[in-house]
Amino acid sequence: MLQKGKMMRIKLIWFLIFTVGWAAGIAAQALDKKQFAQGKKGLNYSKRLELDFNRDWKFFSGDIKGADAPEFDDRKWRKLALPHDWSIEGNFSAAHPAGNDGGALPGGIGWYRKTFHLAKDLKNRRIYIDFGGIYRNSEVWINGHLLGIRPNGYISFRYDLTPFVHFGQRENLITVKADNAKQPNSRWYSGSGIYRNVRLVTTADIAVDHWGTSVSTPAVTAGQATIRQLTVLRNTSGKQAGASAKPVQAEIELTLLDGAGKRVTTVKKQQVLKDSLTEADQSFTIDQPRLWSPADPYLYTLVTRISAGRELLDEYRTTLGIRYFSFDSKKGFSLNGQSMKILGVCMHHDLGALGAAVNRRAMQRQLEILKEMGCNAIRFSHNPPAAELLNLCDQMGFLVMDEAFDMWKKKKNKYDYSLDFEKWHKRDLQDMIKRDRNHPSVILWSIGNEIREQFDTTGTRITRELAGIVKALDATRPVISALTETDSSRNYIAKAKALNVLGFNYKFEDYDKLPLNFPGQKFIASETTSALETRGVYQSSDTLRFWPASGKQKYVVNGNADWTASAYDNTAAYWGTSHERAWKEVKKRDFMSGLFVWTGFDYLGEPVPYPYPARSSYFGIVDLAGFPKDVYYMYQSEWTDKPVLHVFPHWNWKPGSTVDVWAYYSQADEVELFLNGRSLGTRKKENDLHVSWKVNFEPGVLKAVSRKNGKEVLSSEVHTAGEASRIVLEADRSQLIADGDDLSYLTVKVTDQQGNVVPDAAQLISFSVEGNGTLAGVDNGYQANISSFKAPQIKAFKGRCMVIIRSGEEPGYIYIKAKAQDLGETVFRLSSR
Ligand code: GAL
Repeated sequence: MLQKGKMMRIKLIWFLIFTVGWAAGIAAQALDKKQFAQGKKGLNYSKRLELDFNRDWKFFSGDIKGADAPEFDDRKWRKLALPHDWSIEGNFSAAHPAGNDGGALPGGIGWYRKTFHLAKDLKNRRIYIDFGGIYRNSEVWINGHLLGIRPNGYISFRYDLTPFVHFGQRENLITVKADNAKQPNSRWYSGSGIYRNVRLVTTADIAVDHWGTSVSTPAVTAGQATIRQLTVLRNTSGKQAGASAKPVQAEIELTLLDGAGKRVTTVKKQQVLKDSLTEADQSFTIDQPRLWSPADPYLYTLVTRISAGRELLDEYRTTLGIRYFSFDSKKGFSLNGQSMKILGVCMHHDLGALGAAVNRRAMQRQLEILKEMGCNAIRFSHNPPAAELLNLCDQMGFLVMDEAFDMWKKKKNKYDYSLDFEKWHKRDLQDMIKRDRNHPSVILWSIGNEIREQFDTTGTRITRELAGIVKALDATRPVISALTETDSSRNYIAKAKALNVLGFNYKFEDYDKLPLNFPGQKFIASETTSALETRGVYQSSDTLRFWPASGKQKYVVNGNADWTASAYDNTAAYWGTSHERAWKEVKKRDFMSGLFVWTGFDYLGEPVPYPYPARSSYFGIVDLAGFPKDVYYMYQSEWTDKPVLHVFPHWNWKPGSTVDVWAYYSQADEVELFLNGRSLGTRKKENDLHVSWKVNFEPGVLKAVSRKNGKEVLSSEVHTAGEASRIVLEADRSQLIADGDDLSYLTVKVTDQQGNVVPDAAQLISFSVEGNGTLAGVDNGYQANISSFKAPQIKAFKGRCMVIIRSGEEPGYIYIKAKAQDLGETVFRLSSR
């Protein structure tokens, strides 16, 4: 398309934006408006449009013939907005083939359809659709033409719609089938459907390719940084399929912007684009770079502008962080020259009551809770996360281990990815690296978790192949695999000598053997702990219990009748240990670069140690609803510099009972405990990371005081609660954005007259929501709760539950009414703008 002066260009852009936006039925996106506004000033004008394509889809649950055909009648289908996970809307049942390991929720088949128009003037442009992820076995059609299939449910992909779309009056139709019927195919809850974001992208014939930039910082010191970008340019100016591209003389201009958007420097390069794909290589240095780290997650932006003659063809932005790091076989990890431990947790991808459906605020909230605990790293087990989650890690400061696979050719479940591995592993792994290699947060590429091929020679061959695939696309980060075999003669993955860091899961008893068994290698505890806890449940025990006790049992024998586990950090799966023990074992060894605790949050599925109705995991430091379990404060006391004093349990017991009282503390020398004003003694941490007292219960006030050099640092009280008398609502955010996606998490507490949470309160609480918002889900964190996450009511569990409110697209107030028998009604107001 040739330029005909600035006015024409502005008019055309207005026209395009309005026509695409209006005709496609897309509510004008804030992003696009901003892009345009910038374009108007002539500053950041770009011919690339990236439109949110999540609204106005239709959905059919089940299989149906002919739904890919444009003439198919879908008028009766349900209207919805993506991201969408149909499994989370289902009922829990022991009969679902996913089993309770899969969350006891349904799989099945689902169809999605969306119609849209493309303005005539888009005719000379390329039109792409980008899917963040579809679980699983997706097939996508445009106007009845099959674009492709994608078995892997966690991978992002793009299709080129250009040859098959209509411009002008004629409607286009996208159809997607997701097939999650063959189960079990996962060891945890997967979700089903188009559960990640979809975007429509339009570019000129010559543009930066999909994931077409690769930024690295090959030399960084405090005074100077070299920044290198490889840019892959796609030239489709040949038009007809098969025709070769017209050679074009292009200018590639890179402008580095600092965190405030101010220009740091610009470099330019001329290059002839002869082929359909051309790579440009550009480097430059800047002085006094501000380095990225978890403590200061400072981001720059590299703006790539492609022009031919006077015509600007593309403008593409890549976020970048300048940092360097190393793993050392003796000293462990260092970032920007400073030694530090990787203090990480493993996370599965579900968002509790929202299921797998991606929501930016829900992910951000999880990270906020983990950050507050002192966590500085996440292992996204065992598959690539949503791209938006990596953006958040860049922005909020988390180091990331990005993981490709939970199995290779040897299966863990009957219908899992092992069936697709042979055909798809190369493409899937390449796509993960291409999508994620510009994130400063990502510091490790994991090619697999507890892979069965570890134990035979095929492991060596596949490891070399996978590591080679990674290195060809990004040689700046170490390749790792999460291993279990600590004997080097039997570990065929380590034998490949193709990994840069060895991850070991569990087995801290063998840690000291690692440097001897794998001389010169670098290590990280890729998975630890697997302790089991239910928030608010306290069963005293002076020894650690293993539930189940060994591999001979799938489930615990003589566990608790209500499928709970004590929150004193005194129960673990037999392959794991307590949080305290696992952390102490890593902490005391310098060669261990850090750890990833299994897990940060409880997740749906894998409810070790219980059968159904248990349906979500017990491993989390934080429960499924987002309420921290007590051990959260152990980490906070160890992993942050802030003074901590956390005393537990609650103080409502049977008269005459002896209760273990624990306290986690930091930034103090000792803690003194008082019951109704009487001192029960002062304790100091010695070998343990907590202090404890055995206390004969009497109702009243338990008070803990921490002191440093004799001076009080903090004090904390636990009161015996009286009768439950009301509902208290507290919102994590009371001001929302009216974009239809923003969330407020409201903690619902059942309290006595004085405001003390009643520790065993289990009232059924009903909610109604009025105004410009809707109920997105409810949860109470109880692992065996089988009432729906989508119902407008839930029972409190140990005095609390959670209601999640989603903003509407209209600004205004949202009123949430919570009521329960004998507790009256409480109304809370949120506002959204
Ligand atoms: C590990 C495994 C994880 C999870 C965990 C539960 O062995 O890597 O995916 O299953 O056990 O404790």
